[in-house]
Amino acid sequence: MSLRPFPRLFMLLHLTAALVAAVPVSSSSAGGVNSTSQPIDATFARRLPQALIIGAKKSGTRALLAFICMHPDVQAPGPEVHFFDRNYHRGLDWYRKRMPASLPSQLTMEKTPGYFISESAPSRVHSMNPDTRLVLVVRDPVTRILSDYAQASANAAGGSSRRRNRRNRRRKNRRKHRRRQAGRRGSSIKPIESLAFRSRPGNGSQPELLEVSANWTAVRIGEYARHLANWLAVFPRQQILVLSGERLVADPGAVMEELQRFLGLELIITGRHFYFDRRKGFHCLKKAGRRGKPRCLAGNKGRRHPNLAPELIRRLRQFYAPKNREFYAMTGVNFGWPEL
Ligand code: A3P
Repeated sequence: MSLRPFPRLFMLLHLTAALVAAVPVSSSSAGGVNSTSQPIDATFARRLPQALIIGAKKSGTRALLAFICMHPDVQAPGPEVHFFDRNYHRGLDWYRKRMPASLPSQLTMEKTPGYFISESAPSRVHSMNPDTRLVLVVRDPVTRILSDYAQASANAAGGSSRRRNRRNRRRKNRRKHRRRQAGRRGSSIKPIESLAFRSRPGNGSQPELLEVSANWTAVRIGEYARHLANWLAVFPRQQILVLSGERLVADPGAVMEELQRFLGLELIITGRHFYFDRRKGFHCLKKAGRRGKPRCLAGNKGRRHPNLAPELIRRLRQFYAPKNREFYAMTGVNFGWPEL
């Protein structure tokens, strides 16, 4: 039996929306006239998002967005917009223009993991729309650090694979030079041990102490309770869906069902949309896009993590254990992250 992910009507709507999105719809042009003097359907417009994936970085935010975008009633921009953390001064109209055109029946979403740790973001999101639905995906903060570091060192060595590919295609003649540059930059990233830990000199009777560098952003991001408290000061708990990144990896269908229910969407994306790709080591979409080919996430998702000595892993686990327990209490979810 062949898999038909969407009812035909949804597919049609999706395709129409995609075509119309290609027409430059200015903030005031909905219902107006486009550049070829064709009337634009008044129902298509760029809309501010009604739902946001706010974080956490390296916990599966891209997978979540890519999978939910398979839903015919969801529209989302590809790149992270960073409006509420970095671009707020540009104003809501700028933000709206970054959104794809959508039908009134569709939900516009955006994901920027930086929002989760931004102290200003919660009140800014609230003032845009107090009913904004918020989605937070989290993973074991220790594994998250390793993932973050793997990304930082890959970027230092020449950018994300997708960006690098694009650049290579466009600027073949500058390839050699770039590699040399990349090599130089690659050597500039410090070892993870010296970023995640600092030593406190001991006195005569006490030996030198190695303590977790709580100031390093990669460590700070994993203090989930602290960041969530900022959001809970502004939004009620039931407006924030907290998902497990580990479960997203193991059972994307189940997580997508939870997400669709939370967003009030028809249940369309289920486990049937995924297959486990042994080469990638992750679940991939059986059919994606208009050509309906299988699609895995880009190579920059699922990187090899750096090795960290078991003793240092243990120290990080000790550091996070009480913070994780606080987070479980706040969310009412026991994520079961190892404490030793
Ligand atoms: P790793 O690269 O450490 O494995 P984000 O999109 O927030 O940057 O998160 C990246 C993480 O998404 C990856 O971290 C990976 O574990 C996780 N992920 C979840 N589902 C995935 C999938 N189906 N394919 C690839 N990565 C996935």
